[in-house]
Amino acid sequence: MEMKKIPAREGNHNLKDYNCMKESFAWESIKTNFSWFETGKVNMAYEAVDRHADNPNKSNQTALLFSSPDREEKLTFNDLRHESNKFANVLRKYGIKKGDRVFLFMPRTPEFYAAFFGILKVGAIAGPLFEAFMEQAVRDRLQDSEAKMLITTPDLLARVPQADLPALEKIVLVGDYEGKVESYIQYHEEMKAASDQTEMEWVDLEDGMLLHYTSGSTGKPKGVYHVHHAMIQHYASGDWVLDLKEDDTYWCTADPGWVTGTSYGIFAPWLHGVTNVVRGGRFTPDDWYHTLEKYCVTVWYTAPTALRKLVSAGKETVENYDLSALRHILSVGEPLNPEVISWGLKAFHLRIHDTWWMTETGAHIIVNFPSMEIRPGSMGKPLPGIEASIVDNEGNELPPYQMGNLAIKKGWPSMMRAIWNNPGKFESYFIQDWYVSGDSAYKDEDGYFWFQGRLDDVINTSGERVGPFEVESKLIEHPAVAEAGVIGKPHPERGEIVKAFITLNEGYEDSEALREEIRQFVKTGLSAHAAPRELEVKDSIPKTRSGKIMRRLLKSWELGLPTGDTSTLEE
Ligand code: WT7
Repeated sequence: MEMKKIPAREGNHNLKDYNCMKESFAWESIKTNFSWFETGKVNMAYEAVDRHADNPNKSNQTALLFSSPDREEKLTFNDLRHESNKFANVLRKYGIKKGDRVFLFMPRTPEFYAAFFGILKVGAIAGPLFEAFMEQAVRDRLQDSEAKMLITTPDLLARVPQADLPALEKIVLVGDYEGKVESYIQYHEEMKAASDQTEMEWVDLEDGMLLHYTSGSTGKPKGVYHVHHAMIQHYASGDWVLDLKEDDTYWCTADPGWVTGTSYGIFAPWLHGVTNVVRGGRFTPDDWYHTLEKYCVTVWYTAPTALRKLVSAGKETVENYDLSALRHILSVGEPLNPEVISWGLKAFHLRIHDTWWMTETGAHIIVNFPSMEIRPGSMGKPLPGIEASIVDNEGNELPPYQMGNLAIKKGWPSMMRAIWNNPGKFESYFIQDWYVSGDSAYKDEDGYFWFQGRLDDVINTSGERVGPFEVESKLIEHPAVAEAGVIGKPHPERGEIVKAFITLNEGYEDSEALREEIRQFVKTGLSAHAAPRELEVKDSIPKTRSGKIMRRLLKSWELGLPTGDTSTLEE
């Protein structure tokens, strides 16, 4: 079959021609933009905010364009500098210092961004949590990181654990609170009293900046630890991949509770000094188009699951809007279906650029550059300066078209530097010099990478990573559930859905009502995206003789596939 190829984008994009490019992370423009090449000391908050606020031509440019159903607000770079300075002073007042972990559990609002940069300004490590998390998910993360402070809202307080967090000293509340105020630090009161001038804590490039928890196939979520040095790659990819220019209005739809919402919702756009649109609340296709139109968004970074929803809403919906400002669209999180790319060409008259990377990689790794031909279904090619390959389980590189582990030669600037408190887990990602992603892929003869699937049991539902072990652990906390096995089941709109198989304890009967109750139990205990959309009661769950749940077998049964090697199956 002749593969459809979409030629390189016309126009003034930044990485002129991938095939004869000379740029790498050592390129001149990084050196000339960042003073730390001379001083050796750095702070992301300075480079992304204060540097622009110091520049008379940029100081009054809108940095943050915030809109939600009940609130609309603009912050200039100068505003963002002053608000984050104030919060840095609040943090210092309560004893927060370099290296402390400060977590944010709140919706995206202007206060979130002020607090986030305030945390970086005192040299502390920010830990953003997705606002849909339930108590257990919050507890796991605060416990593991030994967070000293949590910033949240009165609405979310009910999901903040009241016990078992010995390291947690203070909770900051953003918003009006009716309860006993002495127990909490009141954000707005403190901010009113705080000075808008502060001392920047200059740190080393390798000092900690960010902790993002993410799921693996076993155990609790892991704290992926990132350092200020990552900014080289945020900046470079903001240029080569997002194609950002200073007068762009950029919208990244991801929440900062996930890595896309920090690396590309905060760092890359503001390192480039663009106007950054933040849209709070949930939205329908009409809201999306309305946001693109109203703010004249020029560069838009979103996800396949959202794009598939727009496709379902039909081309008639998009035709109601004037999206003529839009010039560049990108996608991340799951495979981008070739049909969605074709639809984008018709609906927006633009190419949709797939990008591949992970929480652990910190920034783009394999992407479709504007300067490259797109082969729909392919994730594209590695960033200049990054070596990616397909390797076998011993770390030997495989020839084109052979499927294997998608791996990256370690040492790229934005690579995670540790798994918090878990050196063994960190080591387990590597075979020799290769970071092994957990994805399987192959390379074609021209160096384009093609995603094939996950090699572990991690589930990707609507672009969100769900660890089956976490869901299984929650399920068996329910009194009716004896054993549980959880898999990802293919789904046309969501990519995958979470499907759980359970066995029941003595005295419980399978019923629609019981299954719904168990679903709700996971939803309220863990989070909505982790709750099984399908729940099936079985007489037994297949296990190995050593007692490991054989999810692979459950999946083969579910999909009607050959079951493969079952020699380790328990009698
Ligand atoms: C996993 C990482 C980092 C952005 C958000 C996800 C899957 C990511 C793609 C893509 C196919 C993709 C992979 C990867 N994934 N991008 N373009 N095509 N799959 O971050 O939660 O750390 O998940 O998402 O399986 O390993 P994450």
